[in-house]
Order: sequence, then structure tokens, then C-alpha cells
Amino acid sequence: MKQKLVCIFFIFLLLCSVKGCAMPDYISDKDKLNGSTLTDNDNFDNFIVVGYSQVGSESDWRSTNTDSFKQALTPQNNYYLIYEDAQQKQENQLKSVRNFILQEVDYIVLDPVVETGWDTVLSEAKAAGIPVIIVDRQVVVEDEDLYTCWIGSNFKKQSIKAGKWLENYLKKKGRSDEKINIVTIQGIPDSTAQIGRTNGFKKILSKNKNWNMLEYQNGEFTQAKGQEVMEYYLDTYEDIDVVVSENDNMTFGALKAIEAAQKTCGPDGDIIIISFDAVHAALQFMLDGKINVDFECNPMLGPIVKENIERLEKGKAVKKKQYVDEKYFDSTMDLEKILSERTY
Ligand code: AHR
Repeated sequence: MKQKLVCIFFIFLLLCSVKGCAMPDYISDKDKLNGSTLTDNDNFDNFIVVGYSQVGSESDWRSTNTDSFKQALTPQNNYYLIYEDAQQKQENQLKSVRNFILQEVDYIVLDPVVETGWDTVLSEAKAAGIPVIIVDRQVVVEDEDLYTCWIGSNFKKQSIKAGKWLENYLKKKGRSDEKINIVTIQGIPDSTAQIGRTNGFKKILSKNKNWNMLEYQNGEFTQAKGQEVMEYYLDTYEDIDVVVSENDNMTFGALKAIEAAQKTCGPDGDIIIISFDAVHAALQFMLDGKINVDFECNPMLGPIVKENIERLEKGKAVKKKQYVDEKYFDSTMDLEKILSERTY
């Protein structure tokens, strides 16, 4: 293993001298991991080297998700984590995975920004004998043996629950037969989170003939883009009853746009807000009466990946698809208590 780390270092010295580039993130991350410093005197023999290609840092959910890996795969736990932020670009992820292969890491953890386009690079990892663990979003590949397992959320189920929640909510308000105008702020197209959340809600939408989906627009999972899309919706449509926002950060942007347009939202307002992720800041907005309901997306995948690697290290099998547990929160619940107990 020590040889491998020395090799990593020399490959990057070489890359830097060829490209004249700055030192890559993960070389300096070596010294940043939980404040612990690796030195030449450390014994690397038992370290498990993990190359982790993360989607980006576009949302609160994403930051918590990254932290869960950095806190689980630590030098203290005998891991050396090489972290790469792809800035929501598949081309960056393809480069990272290829670099991980060159570095002969022990495992690759890939959170794929989109579902398609992975067959070649995953075949290269397989040919190099490196197990690949897919997390959060999924890949669609010809040969399912190209990766070891996938761990993440059931995005479709989250939004089926969202649609059913809306059916119930409107029923309680005596609005089941009213025409309900809906807009959707979508996540990055072709990402599992977008596909699942759009399609799950569509399932319930198709059963409610009085629900009118006015438009779908891409808000890229970011607050800035969510705000831009919501501004456009408010300029374009006079009567919006429901906003389905496919993540919390786009919802934060939408709330700003709604406020600027002097409209109201939440349980006592004009517009019903349905959101996904259920991060701390969103539940605070719910407590403040701005969001009606939020469907949790569990970001704590790092410790589950660690458990899987430990099984694999012992030669044990792991389940191919592993869904994490998820809840939902709405304004009828004891949000103060929930917020005080919630770790993310
Ligand atoms: O893939 C998970 C989604 O991606 C989360 O809902 C979102 O916040 C993130 O950007």
C-alpha cells in the first residue's frame, strides 16, 4: 500500500510538471482530513485507498453527504480518501475515475451526476480489478456487473408520496374537484433524482384530472437557478396553486422569488410548496410557515459505504441495491422537536 501512495504522489508530480497545473485538491486534502496529518513515518500498510467522485457542492444536501464520507473514511479508520468534486459535470467525473484507476486505488465510490454514459469507464475499472460502489444516483449500464453495488434513495417513491400527500391535503381543504395549477422546478436532467422525482409525481398527477401541470423547467438543483425559474413562472402564470421543487436549495430560491413578487406561500399562503431533501434550513422555513411539506433524502451514505467495504474486505457478499430509510415532514408536525433532534 505504501508503494501505491508513493506512486500516487509521483503520478501527480508528473501530471503537474506536464500540465503546469496547481496541486490537485486531494493532495492537500491529505493534510486536511479531520485535521489529521499523514507523514512519511505513518504506516500505510493497512490503509484502504478510496477514490470518491462527488457530483459537486450545489446544495446543502450535497455538503452533508460529502461530510458523511469524510467523517467515515478517515485515516483513524484506516482509510485514505481521495475526494474529487466534479462541479456537476460528467466529463470531470470520467477524468477522476480514470485517475483513480491510474493510481490503483482499492475502491472507487462514484456518485454519478447523470445516469447514462458510464459503460466505458466502468469497464476500464473492472478490467483493472477495482470494485466500484455507486452512491446516491444510479447508473444505467448494459452490464450490471460493471459495479459492485448501489446505495441511495428511492427518488420515485419520495415523489409518489408527495403526490399522495397533495391529494390528501386538497381533500382536507375541500379542493379535490378544483382546478389545481402546478409548476415543477426540476433538478439536472438525466439525474436519478430528477427522473425519479418527476416520474413519481407524474404517476399521481395522471390520476387527478383536475391537476394541471403548467410547465417543467430545469433549476439545476441550485438556489440561484431555482429563483430564476420561479421568477419566470410568476411572470408567466397568474394563478399558481402548487410548486413542486425537486430539491430544497431550489425551493430557497423559489421562496425569494415569491416574496419579491409579493405573493404568499405555505400553509397559510396562496401557493402550496412541496420540496425534497428535508435539510435543516428547509425545516426551519417550514416552521416559519413557508414550506408545506418536505420529503427526506437521506444524505448519510458514508458510514453505509464503509460497512460495505468492510464486508467486501472480509470476502463477504453485499446486496446489489440498497435503499436507505426516509421520512417526510409537514407543517402539522412538532417541528421544533424534530429540528432540535435532527443532525442534518
Ligand atoms: O441526488 C440527490 C439530490 O442532489 C439532492 O436532492 C439534491 O439536493 C442534490 O443536489
